[in-house]
Amino acid sequence: VQKEKRILQEAHDYSAKLYHYLLQNLEVAKPAKAYLQSRGLDDALIEQFGIGYAPPRWDTLTQALERKQFPASEMEAGGLLSKRQDAEGYVDRFRDRIMFPIHDVRGQTIAFGGRLLSDGQPKYLNSPETALFSKSRTLYRLHEARSAIRKSGQVVLLEGYMDVIKAWSAGVRNGVATMGTALTAEHAAVLRRFAEEAVICYDGDDAGQAAARKSIPLLEEAGFRVRVSLLPNRMDPDEYVTSYGAEAFVREIIEGAVSAVKFQLIYLRKSHILLEEDGRIRYLRDAVRIVAVRNSPMERELLLKELAQEFGVALDTLKQECLEYRQREK
Ligand code: GTP
Ligand code: MN
Ligand code: MN
Ligand code: MN
Ligand code: MN
Repeated sequence: VQKEKRILQEAHDYSAKLYHYLLQNLEVAKPAKAYLQSRGLDDALIEQFGIGYAPPRWDTLTQALERKQFPASEMEAGGLLSKRQDAEGYVDRFRDRIMFPIHDVRGQTIAFGGRLLSDGQPKYLNSPETALFSKSRTLYRLHEARSAIRKSGQVVLLEGYMDVIKAWSAGVRNGVATMGTALTAEHAAVLRRFAEEAVICYDGDDAGQAAARKSIPLLEEAGFRVRVSLLPNRMDPDEYVTSYGAEAFVREIIEGAVSAVKFQLIYLRKSHILLEEDGRIRYLRDAVRIVAVRNSPMERELLLKELAQEFGVALDTLKQECLEYRQREK
């Protein structure tokens, strides 16, 4: 097994180099290169992130791996090749895709994410789970972000490859991403070794905001202090950096991230009609419940004060409501 893993590691190193070389040198890779440029990825970023291109042909990598005498069946199990459907033999798993190499925490290439140039499905194709690659543990770019995460005591969690790259280009060097899967307790535990604060910077669309809500308790249970970025107009971090620039991204989105409770209260507002008394009462009751589960008495008091002021309710009334809820939930 150890030997098979080593061979697979070598094959991933080799494939990453090949895909990168093809992007930088192949005539047929010109549209891919132009596509990356149109999205703001210049040569420096392409080099920094080891980005590559898998050509449209069925056998680019298959042939190359065979020439290097990598056993095809092992390469298929390792997620680089696929079994042919109509005949014996193997074909490339990734075709006509921009290739993002994925590394383990030591910097070894263990998988790929491939993005279609055009619209189509699936937009991203990732390597499957293999002996090298566990999606529930791996975080994109942790090996490079690790020292910045440790230094700042903070990790920025993003949704996608492009978000990590654009955040990095904006100076945010402590960003990592999960890859098409929800954040897990294992991810949180891995990251907690390097930082105490997590900034959730997911897409501003409904899916991203719902995912943020789910990630909060996971991160808090791992011992993180959690803040959440608020992206306007359903933008994702990549789009925000492109539209508003690096400085605004750092200031408004990263430094301006709100506390987990604030985010939960903002999120809660969306499902209540505050113009009606009925809606205001229900919002306040739900809001107090969000506050009630906070451990710090000081934090609870401050949040209740803000709610009392905003809704013109006596602080004592909210405290009473909060206390009753805490006692019920014990
Ligand atoms: P761009 O369109 O290139 O900007 O991608 P994006 O990162 O904005 O895409 P999106 O917000 O839809 O998805 C976020 C992340 O989820 C991606 O970076 C991928 O890691 C993953 N993802 C998106 N689409 C798919 C898919 O079709 N299959 C899989 N397995 N993962 C996906
Ligand atoms: Mn290069
Ligand atoms: Mn999305
Ligand atoms: Mn997105
Ligand atoms: Mn995007």
